Amino acid sequence: MTKSKSLFITTLIIITIFFNCKDSKKSMANSNLDEKIEQKVDSVLNLMNLDEKIGQMVQYSAGWDLTGPASSKSAQDKVDKMKKGLVGSVLNVVSVKEVREAQKLVMENSRLKIPMIFAYDVIHGLKTIFPTPLGESASWDLETIQKTATIAAKESAASGLNWTFAPMVDVSRDARWGRIMEGAGEDPYLGSLIGAARVKGFQGDDLSNINTIAACAKHFAGYGFAEAGRDYNTTTVGEFELHNMILPPFKAAAKAGVATFMNSFNDIDGIPATGHRVLQRDILKEAWGWNGFIVSDWGSIGEMRSHGYAKDKKQAAEIALNAGSDMDMESYAYEAHLAELLEENKISLSDLEDSVRRILRVKFQLGLFDDPYKYCDEEREKNNIYTKEHLAIAREAAKKSIVLLKNEGNILPIAKDVKSIAVIGPFADNKDTPLGNWRAKGRYNSAVSLLEGVKAKVSKNTKVYYEKGVELTIPTVKPGSNQFLYPLEFNTKDKTGIKEAVAVAKKAEVVFLAIGEDAYQSGEGRSQVNIGFLGLQNELLEAIYKVNKNIVLVLSNGRPMDISRASEILPGILVTWQLGSESGNGIADVLFGDYNPSGKLPVSFPRNVGQEPLFYNQKNTGRPYNSKHVTYSGYTDSKKSALYPFGFGLSYTTFSYDNLKVDKETMNVDGKITLSVDVKNTGKVAGEEVVQLYIRDLVASIVRPTKELKGFEKIMLQAGETKTVSFTIDKEVLQFYTINRKWEVESGEFLLFVGENSATKMKQKITVE
Ligand code: BGC
Repeated sequence: MTKSKSLFITTLIIITIFFNCKDSKKSMANSNLDEKIEQKVDSVLNLMNLDEKIGQMVQYSAGWDLTGPASSKSAQDKVDKMKKGLVGSVLNVVSVKEVREAQKLVMENSRLKIPMIFAYDVIHGLKTIFPTPLGESASWDLETIQKTATIAAKESAASGLNWTFAPMVDVSRDARWGRIMEGAGEDPYLGSLIGAARVKGFQGDDLSNINTIAACAKHFAGYGFAEAGRDYNTTTVGEFELHNMILPPFKAAAKAGVATFMNSFNDIDGIPATGHRVLQRDILKEAWGWNGFIVSDWGSIGEMRSHGYAKDKKQAAEIALNAGSDMDMESYAYEAHLAELLEENKISLSDLEDSVRRILRVKFQLGLFDDPYKYCDEEREKNNIYTKEHLAIAREAAKKSIVLLKNEGNILPIAKDVKSIAVIGPFADNKDTPLGNWRAKGRYNSAVSLLEGVKAKVSKNTKVYYEKGVELTIPTVKPGSNQFLYPLEFNTKDKTGIKEAVAVAKKAEVVFLAIGEDAYQSGEGRSQVNIGFLGLQNELLEAIYKVNKNIVLVLSNGRPMDISRASEILPGILVTWQLGSESGNGIADVLFGDYNPSGKLPVSFPRNVGQEPLFYNQKNTGRPYNSKHVTYSGYTDSKKSALYPFGFGLSYTTFSYDNLKVDKETMNVDGKITLSVDVKNTGKVAGEEVVQLYIRDLVASIVRPTKELKGFEKIMLQAGETKTVSFTIDKEVLQFYTINRKWEVESGEFLLFVGENSATKMKQKITVE
């Protein structure tokens, strides 16, 4: 189909608008809708027959089956359906050429020529890979986070894509859960701000802009609370926990205008999220007045049969549609059964049309009706992907995401003219793991390794030794192929490399020990009961430590890990997550002091996996911890606290907090109090600090957390400089979802805490009258 022909058809559709807008008033109930788009949507809807309407609610994977169980539908069948205009969207078709080919099937063959929307999991970059979302969240730098999403969108749009299945805004507090790497960590407030920043980054101010794509807040809801950290597992969450802990980042994404939501695989207290009417219809669409569409997760409509919630696919389709799931990803349930269900009056035409309307709306917003090939431009594809400029931002994001956990004797930063360094470990010269899981089109082995970053930084007289020491995993598939389908096997036998590693450690002034996790130890389906150093890595650590105490652990991790032993004996620890394309350069910037680390943990690091799920914003029990008595809420064989708490992170300088004060100690529920604190850089170099505000509601209508993050400011201070940081304490800060099932402030006493991490004790009491 030529561009002019497609424009002709679009014009036809638009002309019909003016004769067919009788329903538009109904859909205008929501004031933030664009009237013109609503008229167009109604106009198109009026032209559609039932099969075409249902077709819009169908999404196929048309690439290789990347994420879920292999699809049962043949490629030819999918192509035939597209030609008939019976497919609303496809996922996993990437590149201008492939998108154009697929779009042509619809535009050149179908009756109404309604363009398809092309989706892909662009989770932390398309080809320029940024830190994993959890890692990047450690930057607490919303501007940078938004920027990386903007670039991810630009590269995706240049590849023909219109829609990413990101951000994942699931609050996740369990280190065992592999998907913890995809979100913003354990805190709903931080997660809300980061989620909204990512939505703004992907979508910009205008979805029809050629550089933006639709975002998707997922997985709605409760997926991050999977019991025992086991992926896809059930969640048992009470109503108040749901509203106060899980829903806020979703609400923030909706408020930021996210175009789509994805529901989730789990059941919540017995009701699969995909069939959850209260969540999808009552809360998201009704109470929040959100106008986008909800896509199911991969096959999650059909999976309601495995849950034992639907007896067959037909009933699953009925439940999902009635519950408000608008688009069926790879279950083939809607296409097979919606017409029949309508006939039997088990679903209503108005619900079905509401779904179609929501889907068409996003297509109009993207400008696909104006030009279905608008994102298909080879020139743009050539010039807008993996550019120098994008890589520079990847480096900036990488260094800002690093968290310094320990720096005994100021082992860091290292002088660039140090005589010798040994870079040791399975991740020392690893160019692939830094890309992390969900790396979209990130090219196998394309990241800058730690060794490369170090070599590029040191003086020409510095001797840099390298030894892998141990091979962590035994490759079970050809490197670079789709590892998703295969479990990893860990090497517990071949110790030959340890000797060589010890030999170079002996010769070096300082050792950078790069151990931790492989890219594919976290991500979907990658839950683990062991979150320590697997394979022979502990042996390597102990062997090196015997011959050289000057060790900096450069941790490779998708999740919080148990690093207790390393933390006990090693002087230096850097959490370097999986930092993306520019990983090695970003780490070297920090190791050698070109960048003063400023990251803070977005998740607690435990002492032991047995503490999981571990999170700072716990409620008080009736038996708060007492170290001298056994019948209190704690453990007999471990401290209860985190090894490194939420919000923790050191700098090459130090900060002091002083002069915490409020302008008044009492306010009414609609009032305001200003809290201020003086923060001073007490060290010798400039540095950034994330000043954090926590609150505690002392007595409330439901039991409240002992601390909750409610504000933060990242400030730069020169050596010796002091800044006063102020926070406004008002309804926004103090409200919660109360026993009245409303967000409101309850009168009473509150503690306000300020400090450098969630363990801070610096506080001020206020009273709300
Ligand atoms: C995941 C989603 C993802 C989808 C499509 C599912 O298995 O849970 O997060 O977006 O696949 O790839």
